[in-house]
Amino acid sequence: MHSQTCKMFAFLKLCLVISGANAANILGVVLTPSYSHQIVFKPLWRELSLRGHQVTTITTHPIKDPKLVNLTEIDLSFFLRDSDSEQFIKKHIEVSHTNFVDALRDLYNTMSRAADHMLDYGPVKELINDQNAHFDLLIVEYLLHIPLAFAHRFNCPSIGMLSVDGTNSIYKKVGNPTHSSLYPDSFLPYGNKLSLSERVISFVYNFVLEPYIENELTEIQQKIVTKHFGGDCPPIQDLASNISMLFVDSDPIFHHNRPLVPAVVQIGGGSHRSSPKPLPKDLQLVLDKATNGFIYFSLGSNMRSEFLPANTVDMILEVFGELPYTVLWKFGEEISNKPSNVIISKWLPQQDVLRHPNIKLFITQGGLQSMDEAIYSYVPMIGIPFFGDQSYNVKKLVNKGLGLELNYRTLERKQFKETILEVINNPSYRNTIKKLAELAQDQPMSGTEKAVWWTEYVLRHKGAKHLRSPLLDIPWYQYLLIDVIGVLLLSLSVTLFLIMFAIRTLVRLAKRKLFVIPEEKKSS
Ligand SMILES: *[C@@H]1O[C@H](CO)[C@@H](O)[C@H](O)[C@H]1NC(C)=O
Ligand SMILES: *[C@@H]1O[C@H](CO)[C@@H](O)[C@H](O)[C@H]1NC(C)=O
Repeated sequence: MHSQTCKMFAFLKLCLVISGANAANILGVVLTPSYSHQIVFKPLWRELSLRGHQVTTITTHPIKDPKLVNLTEIDLSFFLRDSDSEQFIKKHIEVSHTNFVDALRDLYNTMSRAADHMLDYGPVKELINDQNAHFDLLIVEYLLHIPLAFAHRFNCPSIGMLSVDGTNSIYKKVGNPTHSSLYPDSFLPYGNKLSLSERVISFVYNFVLEPYIENELTEIQQKIVTKHFGGDCPPIQDLASNISMLFVDSDPIFHHNRPLVPAVVQIGGGSHRSSPKPLPKDLQLVLDKATNGFIYFSLGSNMRSEFLPANTVDMILEVFGELPYTVLWKFGEEISNKPSNVIISKWLPQQDVLRHPNIKLFITQGGLQSMDEAIYSYVPMIGIPFFGDQSYNVKKLVNKGLGLELNYRTLERKQFKETILEVINNPSYRNTIKKLAELAQDQPMSGTEKAVWWTEYVLRHKGAKHLRSPLLDIPWYQYLLIDVIGVLLLSLSVTLFLIMFAIRTLVRLAKRKLFVIPEEKKSS
């Protein structure tokens, strides 16, 4: 009986799935040439294509799975070979250290140039000019506005998606309320409770610096859009505010607990994680043998350990050599004088390494995806941030009690060793992670399921105009209540003025009477 009910439900669910949204043509454009950005989009492309949609993507990191017959990928990986991303990142770390405004400008400028280059690529050009091409929906990475021009080209609704939490400027663009003191921007290295000076900087950044940079970048992007899509493309700010939904890679447990308009959907919670796979044999053997525990050290796919100064690398090796643990270090070059307990590898299956039961600690640059993977494997962390949102992520990690932070510029032996031992030996970090990870996973649907559901919702209704935030259609002074406060202040001053005037007149009258009365007496 029970199993029959189950079957019936399964059948009903299947019917719903099939009738829910007819197969559609979907175009996905993710132009950031970085593994950690791209990885978040892959489950969505996979799922949508498996559900019968014809998905075409333009990406630097294609999935290349022949089983996904409904997925067509325009492969931009040539860009990774052509561009000197190493030079860029080295330079960017320097800029980030001196000034975050320049860092932001540097980052977006480089990304715009990259997008310009990618749109020039033959197959992309062909798609833009193909008169027979037709799409029902565009899904883009919502960092640059350039790819939104595809929505104009194919006259279809669009969805924005991010591999990180939204910045305040992004939230403003979709009409989501922002607040510089409660939810400081993720480009600012601030933690939970801001000090007065931090609140002032956050405010100035939010209302002056950031819009100023934004303006500059919009101009650059508009030029690129005009070049590739022609002059009749609307202003890209309008395209940006016209998206139907925004998917952000965040959740209320690890990110800001903030109000969201219905068009913003949180798909965080490590939805990019893959199912467990066996480790390579030799690695499995080494980690199994590390019964005392092992430390996993990786600075991610953009920042690399090879970029660390040589004396820092020596110091790190020295400390590792003194520890009773095995250390697994993702490092792109050979190291001749390394201690025997340190294993170096160019590439490691990070998610499965983090799942190994002998792991004690993960030393990370604080990339969101890496942290996510560690959290859901209950691995405590030490964050060493370098650029982008890494400082912000690591501040969150420390505030929530998931680990500790180190600064690579001031890093020294004693502190490095003590921090490692503290995070490994104090069980509170691992316990806190476990508790929060369980909370974050207690959700009605996984992030990918949510993204798929809302994507098909937009397809069914050919956009989601009815979800558009009213904030987008009123001037800023109305949102900030400046006109209302103005009117109230004015009425108050008028009332006060009238009262004063009345009192003064009365006093004057009274005075006159006092003087007048004796005169009257005299005359009588
Ligand atoms: C491809 O799409 C068709 C419908 O368009 C669907 O029936 C089929 O299951 C899909 N196949 C795969 C492997 O995604
Ligand atoms: C906004 O999107 C709708 C489709 O959802 C489209 O018809 C309209 O032209 C777009 N407006 C702008 C300014 O891009």
